[in-house]
Amino acid sequence: QRPLSVRIVEVGPRDGLQNEPQAVPTAVKVELIRRLAGAGLRTIEAASFVSAKWVPQMADGAAVLAALPRDAGVRYPVLVPNMRGLRGAIDAGAEEVAVFGAASEAFSRRNINCSIEESFARFQPVVEAAREAGLRVRGYVSCVCGCPYEGPVRPSAVAAVARRLHKLGCYEISLGDTIGVGTPGVVRAMLEAVQREVPASALAIHCHDTYGQALANILTALQMGVRVVDASVAGLGGCPYARGASGNVATEDVVYMLHGLNVETGVELSALVDAGQYICDKLNRANMSKVAQAMLAK
Ligand code: HMG
Ligand code: MG
Repeated sequence: QRPLSVRIVEVGPRDGLQNEPQAVPTAVKVELIRRLAGAGLRTIEAASFVSAKWVPQMADGAAVLAALPRDAGVRYPVLVPNMRGLRGAIDAGAEEVAVFGAASEAFSRRNINCSIEESFARFQPVVEAAREAGLRVRGYVSCVCGCPYEGPVRPSAVAAVARRLHKLGCYEISLGDTIGVGTPGVVRAMLEAVQREVPASALAIHCHDTYGQALANILTALQMGVRVVDASVAGLGGCPYARGASGNVATEDVVYMLHGLNVETGVELSALVDAGQYICDKLNRANMSKVAQAMLAK
C-alpha cells in the first residue's frame, strides 16, 4: 500500500506576513520563499494583489514574483480579490491565483468591502478570465467555524459558499478557520455539511491557532479525507480584518505530526525550522512553532 501523502500549502509569505506592522523588505520575502522551497515545500502562497491601502505589506507582490526561481516545480499562488488584482497577477507571471470569500456577511464586508452575493459577482469574471489565461484558481472560504463579528457560523452557510466557489471553477476550496475558534466537533459538523457539496479531494483545511485547536482540527479533517493542509512557517500570521486572529498553525508542527503518522509531505523538517528561524530573526519576533522551539533548544 502506498503511504499516505498530504500536500502542504505554505501560506507564511502571504498570510504570515500580511499583518506585520513594519514593511518587510522584498528581498527578505524572496529569501524566505527560497528557503521554504529548499525545505521541500511545493506550494508556497507568495503574495496578494489587493489594494495597498487595505494591506500595505503586500504592495510589492509583483516584485516578489519577479524575483522567484521558476524551474523547481514549485507553485506560487497569489490572492486576487477582483479583475484588477488578476491583471496584476498575470502581468507579474502568476500561474495560480486564489479568490477569497467568506461564510459570514459581516466578515465579507470588512475584508473585501462587499456582501457575499456581490463577491460572487466579482469572482465570476475573475475565475473565468484566469482559467481562460491558463491559470489554476483556488477558492478560500473564511470564517468556517466562527466570525469575529457574527459569532458561530452555520455549517450550511459554509457549504453553500464552498459549493458556489467549486462550481465557479475553483479546483480546490480552502476552508479557513480565520479566528481559530473551531474545535474538532465544530470542524467535523462543518466538513460533513461541506462534503455533501464538494468532494474531499477538492478541499483544504486552513487553521489559525488562536485557541490552540489547530492540530486537533487538522487531524479531524485528515480523518475525514482532507489531504491538503494550509500552514504558516513559525506560526506567523493573522488577518488584518479579523481582530484577535493569531497566527496560522505552524508548518513545522503540522509536518512533525504528519511524519509521526507516517504521512509523506516531501518536507525536510530541519530545513523548514531553519527557514522559520530566518524570518523570525528578520522580524525580531518569537518563533510560535512548538516543534521549532524544541528543536532549536537541543
Ligand atoms: P474597495 O475600496 O471596495 O474597492 O476595496 P475599489 O474597487 O473601490 O478600490 C479602492 C481602491 O483600491 C482604488 O484606489 C483601487 O484602484 C484600489 P484609489 O482609486 O482609491 O486610489 N484597488 C486595488 N489596488 C491594487 N490591487 C487591487 C485593487 N483593487 C482595488 N486588486 C478590495 C475592495 C477588495 C480591493 C479591498 O477590500 C481589498 O483589497 N481587500 C483585501 C483584504 C485582504 O487582503 N485581506 C487579507 C486576505 S484574506 C485572509 O487573510 C483570509 C485567508 O487567510 C483565509 C482565512 O484565514 O480565513 C485567505
Ligand atoms: Mg488565513
